[in-house]
Amino acid sequence: PTVAVLAGGLSHERDVSLRSGRRLSAALRSQGLTVEEWDTDGGLLDRLRSERPDAAVVALHGGEGENGSVQTVLEMLQVPYVGTSSQGCRRAWDKPTAKALLEQAGFATPDWVVLPHSTFRELGAQAVLDAIVDHLGLPLILKPDQGGSALGTQVVRDASELPTAMVGCFAYGDTVLAERYVEGVEVAVTVIERDGGPEALPAVEIVPESGVYNYTARYTAGLTNFFAPARISEESAKAVGELAVGAHRLLGLRDISRTDAIVDADGTVQFLEVNSSPGLTETSTVPMAIESSGASLGGVFADLVSRAIS
Ligand code: DAL
Ligand code: MG
Repeated sequence: PTVAVLAGGLSHERDVSLRSGRRLSAALRSQGLTVEEWDTDGGLLDRLRSERPDAAVVALHGGEGENGSVQTVLEMLQVPYVGTSSQGCRRAWDKPTAKALLEQAGFATPDWVVLPHSTFRELGAQAVLDAIVDHLGLPLILKPDQGGSALGTQVVRDASELPTAMVGCFAYGDTVLAERYVEGVEVAVTVIERDGGPEALPAVEIVPESGVYNYTARYTAGLTNFFAPARISEESAKAVGELAVGAHRLLGLRDISRTDAIVDADGTVQFLEVNSSPGLTETSTVPMAIESSGASLGGVFADLVSRAIS
């Protein structure tokens, strides 16, 4: 079969996606598949119509590649694809939605406040900033409510840093998610669907040299140390696996996902977010988790392609 790996795209995470796409394409070719790398732009619809690949694999990150838009196009044209449906993508892409759904299901997630930009005009900037610090305490973390690769994310340790951090975060979108900052062991848990259903792979522990897992720490080799499996208790390992499979099921994700969480000082597993199209670059945790489990990236994705086509 001919497989189109959709990468690139128009989001802030374009470069990351091109790296994911290149690595995934090579991995699929090593399994004997015929792979075309498509740089995804406005011509996608026409190209899918005229070339009709047997399957597509979504290796896009951010924006239309992760918010369900590209998935809607694939669904409308009935092109089988690897990755989460448009509906699941919409739930996972919006961080506050994902946190609320997980919290309702009984999982812990750091306290949070959603701040549309208009709030600042309506209530006055200082009143909003004071209320955030009162409610969440310090340190806190600001994230674009929809975004990836930590772009726009700001850790705030002192209230005086808050105005500048807020501006930096609003540069990436109209709504900010402010969250209590939780200290602990940061882990990423990959879930893969196999015939028996979604399965969690051993968690990968993330230890950035600078203490903050920002864009540079994510994509520059050597700036972050990874431990696969994570150096956490057996009990915590079980709990993070249950969280990741729970998130995958609750949000209606498909094929593969990655849940990010913190095991806090009390041993409580705190849900941060789930990624419906996780990074597959040389420094991304999903390929590390797959390799540490004894499988290969190409083997896992070749299986997912077969499942999509059958
Ligand atoms: N958003 C990036 C690609 C990730 O989650 O790995
Ligand atoms: Mg993410």
